Amino acid sequence: MTLKQQLEDRVAVALRRAGAPDGTPAQVGQATRPEFGDYQSNGVMAVARNLKTNPRQLAERVVAELDLGDLADRVEVAGPGFLNITLSPSWLAARLVAMLRDDRLGVEPAPSPQTVVVDYSHPNLAKEMHVGHLRSTIIGDALVRVLEFLGHRVVRHNHVGDWGTQFGMLIAYMDRLAAEQGHDLSTALVDLEAFYRAAKECFDRDAAFADLAREYVVRLQGGDAHCRAAWEQFIGESLRHCEAVYRQLGVTLTGADVRPESAYNDALPGILDQLAAKGLLVESQGAQCVFLDEFRGKDGEITPVIVRKSDGGYLYATTDLAAAQYRANDVGADRILYIVDARQSLHLRQVFSVARAADLVPPACSLEHHAFGTMLGEDGRPFKTRQGGTVKLMDLLREAEERAFALVSSKSPELPEGERRAVAHTIGIGSVKYADLSLNRTTDYVFSWDKMLSFEGNTAPYLQYSCVRVKSIFRRGGLDEADPRGDIILAEPAERQLAVKLVQFNETVHSVAGECYPNHLCTYLYELAEAFMRFYETCPVLKAEAEVRTSRLLLSLLTARTIERGLGLLGIGVVERM
Ligand code: ARG
Repeated sequence: MTLKQQLEDRVAVALRRAGAPDGTPAQVGQATRPEFGDYQSNGVMAVARNLKTNPRQLAERVVAELDLGDLADRVEVAGPGFLNITLSPSWLAARLVAMLRDDRLGVEPAPSPQTVVVDYSHPNLAKEMHVGHLRSTIIGDALVRVLEFLGHRVVRHNHVGDWGTQFGMLIAYMDRLAAEQGHDLSTALVDLEAFYRAAKECFDRDAAFADLAREYVVRLQGGDAHCRAAWEQFIGESLRHCEAVYRQLGVTLTGADVRPESAYNDALPGILDQLAAKGLLVESQGAQCVFLDEFRGKDGEITPVIVRKSDGGYLYATTDLAAAQYRANDVGADRILYIVDARQSLHLRQVFSVARAADLVPPACSLEHHAFGTMLGEDGRPFKTRQGGTVKLMDLLREAEERAFALVSSKSPELPEGERRAVAHTIGIGSVKYADLSLNRTTDYVFSWDKMLSFEGNTAPYLQYSCVRVKSIFRRGGLDEADPRGDIILAEPAERQLAVKLVQFNETVHSVAGECYPNHLCTYLYELAEAFMRFYETCPVLKAEAEVRTSRLLLSLLTARTIERGLGLLGIGVVERM
């Protein structure tokens, strides 16, 4: 159980003994300032209001009933009835010693492991991957790493868009190129973005081609062998591009995780049958729709969820219903996480509600949209190239590495070039990821090279550099890294503060798995690095005597390990020197 949960449970017991009704939450959180102790419980005030008693008196009663065992030294009533809890140094020291012997650095496995389907990255294969797919890929990657580390069974679903009218246009254009120029298609597909633009231009300009493209859609959907083969060639090429990006980014997605929209085609008629059987299908202007009361617009009219068009075609929502059912019933998901752009919020709310109304997923299966905002340029507008085009992901990653290389070369010109390149890769990719992960994902985010590559502030290079520095302090101490022995002594306030941060790694990782906000882990790592710097400024390490020296070296080792592991959970590497 995490420290926070232990405190919560114990305060809850005391609240009950002091007269609060059963199930009153203790509302324990990390203290916001050192004067408030290490943890704070805010549960008393609400209860006092309900019981119409004096909150400070109730708080005193709770303290009298509170048994924190060896966890805490001191509990104080503050302000209108807060409880400020100060952990005991001996308990902290014992935890840290245990963490030094633990590969997991004190992070407990989830008490009841779940099957979690994570739907992320999911580019549209008609075009090349662009910055719009970056956030989902990076956030999803961090979440799957955290969930797996806690022992959950994670099933990655790369729900790529590989179906729909665009593909008729693209394969019609492939055929035209082959007929006109007879050249090898794989060269034409090297630049998918240019290929898409050329096809689209032809489609808009040439009515005959547009008709042909529509005909191809029908043929493709009817299973025509030629169209099917051309489509497969196109999809294969597009997926190869994605995989190159994944490799460059160092995310854990592979071809085996692709579970495309087309995979659900055969299940779509069955979805309509199930909706019909539940009496949910209504025909409206020739289309099959579901009307749910909760989707009433401002005008009082219900916005229908269309599941089949009047021409018989199915929709994005229908595919998502089939996907939800497959994930819940065939994969056996306890949770399905959708790491999807905030602009699709209404769509997903509709899918979730229809899926619930039609019992396509069992009630116990949790459907969660973890939304993120748009990536903006420094001008505050959606991120574009200078010419106003979409930025290709591969180009962006290349630029990140180039910029990092220039930076490393100016800071450490003495390193051999090969090493500077490797370091630049780790820093460049790490910066792009961290800049995204460190912000609350729900807001739009402004992409800034200077900010993300800065060695100051809450950035990847700052943490990567801190890790190198802390490790080197430890190594100069001459202790055995593989078998670090000795006691932890927490006498100075800066030592205590660092110790508290270190033991909070466990609850931080658990909170990321539960709430899916990777920025909580980033903030934690940044605060840990800052706590170390304050400790290092006030507490000499290498010059200290005997056991104090050992203890401080051990604190350094734990800090370095925690930063490295934390960054690893975010999909970010560290280097030996930089
Ligand atoms: N391929 C979609 C797009 O590019 C995103 C898919 C999101 N996942 C889902 N289950 N709808 O917009």
